[in-house]
Amino acid sequence: MAPVITIREMPRHVGEEVVLQGWLYQRTDKGRLQFLQIRDGTGFCQAVVFKKNLSSEAFQAARRLTQESSLRVRGTVRQDPRAPGVPGGYELDVRDLEVIQLAEPFPIQPKEHGVEFLMRHRHLWIRSPRQWAIQRVRASLVRYLREWLDSHGFLNVDTPIITPAAAEGTTTLFEIDYHGEPAYLAQTGQLYNEAHIFAFGRVYCFGPTFRAEKSKTRRHLQEFWMLEPEIAFCDLEQLMAIQETMIAQVIQRCLQENQDELRLLERDTASLERVQPPFPRIHYDEAVERINRAAAAGEKVPGYDEPVPPLEWGEDFGSPHETYLAAQFDRPVFVHHFPTAAKAFYMEPEPDRPEVCRSVDLLAPEGYGEITGGSERISDPDKLLAAIQAHNLPLDAYRWYIDLRRYGSVVHSGFGLGLERTVAWVCGLEHVRETVAFPRTLQYMRP
Ligand code: 4AD
Ligand code: MG
Repeated sequence: MAPVITIREMPRHVGEEVVLQGWLYQRTDKGRLQFLQIRDGTGFCQAVVFKKNLSSEAFQAARRLTQESSLRVRGTVRQDPRAPGVPGGYELDVRDLEVIQLAEPFPIQPKEHGVEFLMRHRHLWIRSPRQWAIQRVRASLVRYLREWLDSHGFLNVDTPIITPAAAEGTTTLFEIDYHGEPAYLAQTGQLYNEAHIFAFGRVYCFGPTFRAEKSKTRRHLQEFWMLEPEIAFCDLEQLMAIQETMIAQVIQRCLQENQDELRLLERDTASLERVQPPFPRIHYDEAVERINRAAAAGEKVPGYDEPVPPLEWGEDFGSPHETYLAAQFDRPVFVHHFPTAAKAFYMEPEPDRPEVCRSVDLLAPEGYGEITGGSERISDPDKLLAAIQAHNLPLDAYRWYIDLRRYGSVVHSGFGLGLERTVAWVCGLEHVRETVAFPRTLQYMRP
């Protein structure tokens, strides 16, 4: 009896008879010869159905196959460098074929469809090769990031999703009813991570976070996954060093281990190969100068047909500013020392110049914008109390957070990496909505 194998295992079975089980993606009929493009979740391959090699019932069954029909095929694995597919270079010389279910007409054809239509059929769209590749890169990146942190002394901790207070501003909160009391879906796990570092030194959480963003951009989701490392005895400079090492190593590993997926996505990998430390670091002051110089000169934002908008000192960047700045460098760029007033309440102001804080954003190249945001945290309990009051936040909800600074406070820092933006960048996608199987955006909450 021929063993059941996966497409990914084909290279180890050249010349052997095996069984593949999966779905028909495409079929080409050449009379006595049919080419079935089959996918099984692990990859894509071509099955060659030659009339003389199987029973006439099986051959006729193959002819009736519709797109997405589920099937089982038995045949011999043949190595052929021209054979299409992923991993590619292997095809199945079919001897027998069993139809499991003949699929109804599939709504998504191998042709161009509008985004509206595809989003409505997202539950079916995720089967297509590009979507398959994106989800595999996503899962790989998660694994590489976790493995990097796990092997660099970070403990994975879990932080709550139902929270009593805001951490990243009160304008993007999703409120829920917690048995009569208002509560919010977590915007970040950071505040709880800060409790954890006093127990474990270096930690990270990785989970879904929620922002009721009113903005309909290609970088914003209502629900996204964030990886958040938090580190005791770490200042802003050390934080940048950790970030660039982690990100560079993870990207290089992805280039090595996800070649199939990146090729399928037709990703130009040259720009990813340049993701090597050190990343340039520019002060917010310098960023504003660069932006305003470009604005005065009427320079265009790369990839957009609009001029660089001027930026008043004190304002946060808009997408065109980020895109313009990032385009000035050949690898991700850190922008540090943002205006204190533009950032979250917990960021440590620069002692000699408190109008800026010890914060840092990492901007990805090619217009992908901010992929990480982080800072040194206020470590003095009185200063933190004053910041909470200055932001009109309800003190009662933050007493425990101030407490952390009362029992052995230390300089500490952390950052959050937005998974979807990172996946969009690595895969070279137009929009973050394709980076997650079932995206939640301002327009789409279904399926
Ligand atoms: O800059 P943010 O808001 O930082 C924090 O939440 C910190 N508490 C993190 C920390 O220091 N532990 O968000 C961090 C990252 C952004 O750089 C971006 O990549 C991503 O999360 N992000 C979003 N991604 C998709 N959709 C949104 N609406 C996002 N908002 C932030
Ligand atoms: Mg940010």
